[in-house]
Amino acid sequence: MYNLANKRVLLGVTGGIAAYKCAELVRRLREQGAEVQVAMTRGAREFVTPLTFQALSGRPVRTELFSNEAEAAMGHIELARWADCVLVAPASANFIARLAAGLADDLLTTLCLATTAPIALAPAMNVQMWNNPATSANVRVLKERGVILFGPATGDQACGETGPGRMLEPGQLVEALTLLFQREDRLRGQCVLITAGPTQETIDPVRYISNRSSGRMGYALCKAALNAGAEVTLITGPVALEPPAGARVVQVRTALEMRDAVMAEAGQADIYIAAAAVADYRCAEDAATKIKKTAGILTLRLTPNPDILAEVAALPRAPFTVGFAAETESLREHAKAKLAGKHLDMIAANLVGEGKGFERPDNALEVYWQGGERSLPLAAKERIATQLMELIADRYHEKNKN
Ligand SMILES: Cc1cc2nc3c(=O)[nH]c(=O)nc-3n(C[C@H](O)[C@H](O)[C@H](O)COP(=O)(O)O)c2cc1C
Repeated sequence: MYNLANKRVLLGVTGGIAAYKCAELVRRLREQGAEVQVAMTRGAREFVTPLTFQALSGRPVRTELFSNEAEAAMGHIELARWADCVLVAPASANFIARLAAGLADDLLTTLCLATTAPIALAPAMNVQMWNNPATSANVRVLKERGVILFGPATGDQACGETGPGRMLEPGQLVEALTLLFQREDRLRGQCVLITAGPTQETIDPVRYISNRSSGRMGYALCKAALNAGAEVTLITGPVALEPPAGARVVQVRTALEMRDAVMAEAGQADIYIAAAAVADYRCAEDAATKIKKTAGILTLRLTPNPDILAEVAALPRAPFTVGFAAETESLREHAKAKLAGKHLDMIAANLVGEGKGFERPDNALEVYWQGGERSLPLAAKERIATQLMELIADRYHEKNKN
């Protein structure tokens, strides 16, 4: 049985002494059925020749960003899309720093910035380099962005010192990658419906009522669901974000449009995640022409919008339904009341206001379900989304076992 059958692994090799072990790594990845494309930094080529990796991987090794020949075949963006996973082994201190800084100054860093596939690093360096606060800070930044670390191990080093900084052995890296793909595949074949962003409620032809949702959490969840192998439909209000490649996207503007789009899809969905900040009210009358400015007070009459989340949860064959609760106080009580009141399978609650939640790149969540709860501490929304998707997959499979 091949644990990595048809998996496309982009193996980045950087300039560390452990690069020699990656010849064995390529052989073992291929033994497990993976397709391996090697990309080497200039530093890596000081340690091992591309020819070695070409012979073992069966593919020409990529080394240059500015290469007419390579770009004409599979360009760097196509290569970034091709990969199911990027594994950088060994990951040098220098490479880790360049990745943390967001540089794209050679082929490998550019590929890492351009890919939506998970990125795993197998650091390998001298113990002092690993313990250096600069490296620690870079690793922290990368982890917050969802980059996965395989190792390093502790032990004797090529430089004669002992301590953390050894690259994991090729067999351990293959095992770690297999586990990563198993986790990644947890929602394969499942249809996940996600709503994201704010809605805009019309006042007149030029004005609307909206809220401060940026859509980032919903978009990050969309990416996490795609990474977990799901087929994803994203129903999105107006946001300034690029939808993740691979999702089917339905653009809506108002709460009523969002309701219609959700109800058209909910019957086919296995999981529904309501991350949109749907306006609770819309104008009772929308003016056909622009409302003129007058000296006096203008009164708008508002009428409640439908509760899309409750409607989906009440369907006879309801999908596994996950709600969000953005609260300014009494988070736990409000979230638990919403979980029970709307018959949800799970609710993810966060505090908003005072610089929390909306319009920020990070978030912290309290997640509740019948009989359980979990805190996801403050981290980049991408990372929180991956953790939440793992919890959703756990609970979804648990529910369907019964
Ligand atoms: C003999 C030798 C061994 C090295 N081993 C390592 C190592 O194990 N880890 C590391 O981070 N850097 C190591 N370096 C330093 C890197 O090769 C150097 O920082 C280089 O710029 C890395 O480039 P790259 O990250 O673009 O591949 C070594 C350098 C030499 C000369």
